[in-house]
Amino acid sequence: METVIPSKPVMNIPIAKPTMTGDEMALIQQALTSGWVSMGPLTQQFEQAICKVTGATHAVAMNSCTSAIHVAMLIHGIGAGHEVICPSYSFIASANGIRHAGAEPVFADINPTTLTLDPEHTETLIQENYDANLINKKTGHQLRAIHLVHQLGIPGDIDTFARLAEKYNLVLIEDNACGLGSTYKLQPLGSSGFTNSLSFHPRKVITTGEGGMLLTGSTDLAAKAGVYRAHGMSISDFARHNAKATTYESYEVVGYNYRLTDIQAAIGLKQVERLESFIQRRRQIAAIYNQAFAPLPELSIIEVPDYVTRWNYQSYPLRLVDADQAKRDAFMLALQEVGITTRRGIPPIHQEPVYQQGLILPQTEQVSQTSLMLPIFPLMTDEEVHYVVEHVLNTCKRLL
Ligand SMILES: Cc1ncc(COP(=O)(O)O)c(C=O)c1O
Repeated sequence: METVIPSKPVMNIPIAKPTMTGDEMALIQQALTSGWVSMGPLTQQFEQAICKVTGATHAVAMNSCTSAIHVAMLIHGIGAGHEVICPSYSFIASANGIRHAGAEPVFADINPTTLTLDPEHTETLIQENYDANLINKKTGHQLRAIHLVHQLGIPGDIDTFARLAEKYNLVLIEDNACGLGSTYKLQPLGSSGFTNSLSFHPRKVITTGEGGMLLTGSTDLAAKAGVYRAHGMSISDFARHNAKATTYESYEVVGYNYRLTDIQAAIGLKQVERLESFIQRRRQIAAIYNQAFAPLPELSIIEVPDYVTRWNYQSYPLRLVDADQAKRDAFMLALQEVGITTRRGIPPIHQEPVYQQGLILPQTEQVSQTSLMLPIFPLMTDEEVHYVVEHVLNTCKRLL
């Protein structure tokens, strides 16, 4: 049998890979030897460092973004009997954090060009389903908030949603899991003053292994979030350990153990120092992809609106024009066969068994079925980027 020798060696390119700076270990060592391995000075420094790069006034570090979303709901008094508008075009945690609080997500459609919540669909949904007191005419539950997800790091239209929230007396909460380093109207995501949550999962722009952070412009809400994070304890661990006199903590709410360790904060502090260089490299890779794919009529790249003044390219989505789900899956398989890992263009939450409501969201479903995510991470070499380009173009010729 004839052996086919590939013209070039097959590469093995993951969808993402964390970039460790090399000097995390020294700071981890400091955490290990200092006696403060959880919720100590490094956690505080990490919170301050994130405030500095985002322009947020208050930051509360947690063990994940999902925990931060849950706490965001709690500090705004959102719970049983309440509903929160949320995109279905997101990772399931955007909805889970709402359910953890006892409330129910109500899924709205996205704008297919911005990939974020569609303000018009959101307003129609409010007008058609809720009475003047924001009571859902079918469920009897009260609408309390809009959860605006900055999907893939693309800022949603914060000002438009802030106006909508004001008009209907709703709370605006931002899911900023992917958005660190992106800017909206020249302002960093996280600086709006609305409660929002960041993720430091390894697929995000910076990572602490696992981790998250709640940002807010309100001193009062930040204090409440700090209490929920640590078992509902009225005095923080840090304050207790530094107190000169005996302190008596009390518990007025049922809290959680959502604390971040100083070992994770040590990693985060080193990561955040290199945030700018990480984003610059992501944007360089995206520019190469955009240039290669934009001319092809079979492919559609994402052209962000003007209010997105910087996209961090936490992920790189590509849409296959006139394709269906089967074609998209075949496209992904073809790339997998040459060692390129891709991901589906976000499975809609409303189609997952745990949330199924028989809902149809045309834009969400269409975008999801015809999109895939390409590898993008700062350590990707130019050779790897061009390898992806070459194989996307070949696959396009062969399959579309
Ligand atoms: C939009 C969005 N929200 C929330 C999360 C949850 O983040 P974490 O894994 O830190 O809980 C993710 C993670 O992928 C996400 O993409």
